[in-house]
Amino acid sequence: MTPYDHNRTPLFDAMVALAESRKVSFHTPGHKSGKGISTRFRKFVGPKVFSIDLTCLDEVDSLQKPRGVIREAQELAADIYGADQSFFLVNGTSGGNQAMILSVMKPGEPILLTRILHKSVVSGLIMTDCKPIFIPLQSTPDCDLLLNDRTDTIIQAMNRHPEAKKLFLTSPNYYGVTLDLPTIIQEAHSRGVTVLVDEAHGPHLHFHDDLPPSAMASNADLCVQSTHKIIGGMTQASILHAKKANIDIERLTSVLRYLQTTSPSYILMASLDLARMQMATEGKKLLSKAIDLARKARERIRKIPGLTCIDRDEVKAASGGDNDLDETKLAIGVKGIGLTGYQVSQKLNHEFGIQVEMADLHHVLVIVSIGDHREDLDRLVRAMEAISHQAMTLKSIIPINVKPPYAIASSRMNPREAFFSSHQSVPLEEALGKTAADIVTVYPPGIPLLIPGEEITQTVLDHLILMRETGATLDGLDSDNRLINIV
Ligand SMILES: Cc1ncc(COP(=O)(O)O)c(C=O)c1O
Repeated sequence: MTPYDHNRTPLFDAMVALAESRKVSFHTPGHKSGKGISTRFRKFVGPKVFSIDLTCLDEVDSLQKPRGVIREAQELAADIYGADQSFFLVNGTSGGNQAMILSVMKPGEPILLTRILHKSVVSGLIMTDCKPIFIPLQSTPDCDLLLNDRTDTIIQAMNRHPEAKKLFLTSPNYYGVTLDLPTIIQEAHSRGVTVLVDEAHGPHLHFHDDLPPSAMASNADLCVQSTHKIIGGMTQASILHAKKANIDIERLTSVLRYLQTTSPSYILMASLDLARMQMATEGKKLLSKAIDLARKARERIRKIPGLTCIDRDEVKAASGGDNDLDETKLAIGVKGIGLTGYQVSQKLNHEFGIQVEMADLHHVLVIVSIGDHREDLDRLVRAMEAISHQAMTLKSIIPINVKPPYAIASSRMNPREAFFSSHQSVPLEEALGKTAADIVTVYPPGIPLLIPGEEITQTVLDHLILMRETGATLDGLDSDNRLINIV
């Protein structure tokens, strides 16, 4: 039995008590509980929020060296997620990815990474100067959606590289497609490999049996979650969880002291305390509702002419049983109505007042969460029916089938060496054969097509040029859309 009472919110309670004590402040923040804040700001958000915009004080503890209520709040988070220690983060999962890598890697050491990764992982590689070994993503010819890695591919990579004692995984990916973490982590541990998981899109997985298993439940050594993306954290608020068997917790704590601001927002940290309480006490009920809303919407969308919306069985079948799907993500396939995902996203926004999480060439991605209601999903389904009807009447041309070439990277130097080499910018058309000096992604989903140090191949260039023409945002080029490469 857990000794922890998860109705408690020690940090938030201490903040409220301090605000209500009305002590006179001669410390930061300079707005002094909102007395000095702009009137327009205060009028819109109300006065109370400023009274809990605090700084490190005895009553509310310090994130740099937690001994009081922040420590208690972090212990509650660790308890519910099954970690030995959890850490509040105020620079999102981006900061957590950097901290995970910096705490376990040394310069020159090899680390295996799946190719589905966020650019913050690359910044961690640059900081440490470790030696990445990327596991190429296998393509899935029968499936339009970007799935996740196959279990065997990862196991084979560990067998080929016994010198690499760290493995970095991303699960779920942006579309909610998860890896078979229990199997992969067991295989890794049996080889003495420590596993780091970017679970930015999965802070809720731990709280419902109908969702794929979470990283901590699968025995990951380190895992970071964007509490703000899916459950009740405020934007930027994430949590990093650690198990001590393979992790030097002192080192991790020290790394976080270097990387995190010395002025963390108490409002963000309180939102983590409250999000943990909410998930621990009523997460299952809230998630049941979100899963049910998503399932019903998925069924209706799948019946709309020209549209697809992949389900759990289809993900499992397309991945040979290796991947699973978080059903609260609706990846609506729009190729069949002759429009790109970018066009549908624009229509939803400007004609129907609906904003989606992201679009790629063939999909729009809808996140259904504990904040949604049936009417919101009804509105989405009706809008998709109308867009499908319009598009089918116009008989638009079906866009070509495009798969991003994430699998073909050829690395010439470590990301850090490439990052610090002298470089120049050239038009995309002239970059063939050169070496990338910056990360290049099509955003979203923001998975790097080029990582500093990789050869710029014809396949990548063709893809970038094509994506530029379809209206996608290319990230990592200079302001004139030229590719940055090493001289
Ligand atoms: C897979 C993945 N990891 C990490 C991040 C960064 O998370 P955050 O925005 O919390 O810094 C993102 C952001 O979209 C992501 O998609």
